[in-house]
Amino acid sequence: MRNFTTVNDIGDLKDAVKEALEVKANRFGYKHLGVDKTLLMIFFNSSLRTRLSTQKAAMNLGMNVIVLDVNQGAWKLETERGVIMDGDKPEHLLEAIPVMGCYCDVIGVRSFARFESKKDDYEERIINQFIRYSGRPVFSMEAATRHPLQSFADLITIEEYKTVERPKIVMTWAPHPKALPQAVPNSFAEWMNATGYDFVITHPKGNELAPEFVGNAVVEYDQAKALAGADFVYAKNWSAYTDPNYGQVINLDRSWTVTTEKMALTNNAYFMHCLPVRRNMIVSDDVIESERSIVIPEAANREISAQVVLKRILEGLK
Ligand code: CP
Repeated sequence: MRNFTTVNDIGDLKDAVKEALEVKANRFGYKHLGVDKTLLMIFFNSSLRTRLSTQKAAMNLGMNVIVLDVNQGAWKLETERGVIMDGDKPEHLLEAIPVMGCYCDVIGVRSFARFESKKDDYEERIINQFIRYSGRPVFSMEAATRHPLQSFADLITIEEYKTVERPKIVMTWAPHPKALPQAVPNSFAEWMNATGYDFVITHPKGNELAPEFVGNAVVEYDQAKALAGADFVYAKNWSAYTDPNYGQVINLDRSWTVTTEKMALTNNAYFMHCLPVRRNMIVSDDVIESERSIVIPEAANREISAQVVLKRILEGLK
């Protein structure tokens, strides 16, 4: 593997999950791959899980790790070409990226949607510039439109907990006070569509995701109908994708919060969320604390998804 930004980069999903379970059972068995190799993790946005799990995965593989928070201690970066740089950004990404590439063997990038331009966000301008100009393998630690390390961890978790071959997975929108990107739901939909699962998306009218991510999923605007018979409930907020409301909070309807009453409609479903989660907006205390909540094992699998991706990138280094 050279770069990892979408489900297409991981190949056969059954093989990927099998490898993930092998790595999970023997996470220190591949240390030789990372000796004298350096991972540079670049964060344009905050993180708890991605930062810790990816660093742990790299350490499991024997790698050295450098972490750069671009907005804390580094020069502020201009990202647009053609700008007269007479403002508060003294360095351009087009110099910074190849310089960063000089100090490492692999680069992980976190760069959220900015909501300034849907076109720029959906062209993945930031991570694609790293792929183009760094000279190093690059993997996404959540980009503008996808969060593939999260989705891979979600898939591993579902495979560990499912009791039927083809479970019903329901991704439900839930309210949140701030505008959140579509990266997690886009990516989850992309990965679920690549499995043989029964996959349903439910959200209020106006919160439709981009059609290329919805794919063949069933979209059901009635949340109660969608939840009926679900084996897994995956809650997430996302801001509007469709124009003219791109990147805006257009709905705060707390009747969409996942509660015990909602979970009673399901087939005793497991509750999932990528975290961080706002309690009693997205999900009630009772549900997230219930024995059917698997948010902690789901987060733990972030170490495993990151380790499989790093392992494959290291195996591909010349
Ligand atoms: N789920 C996830 O990516 O968490 P962080 O934003 O804390 O990394």
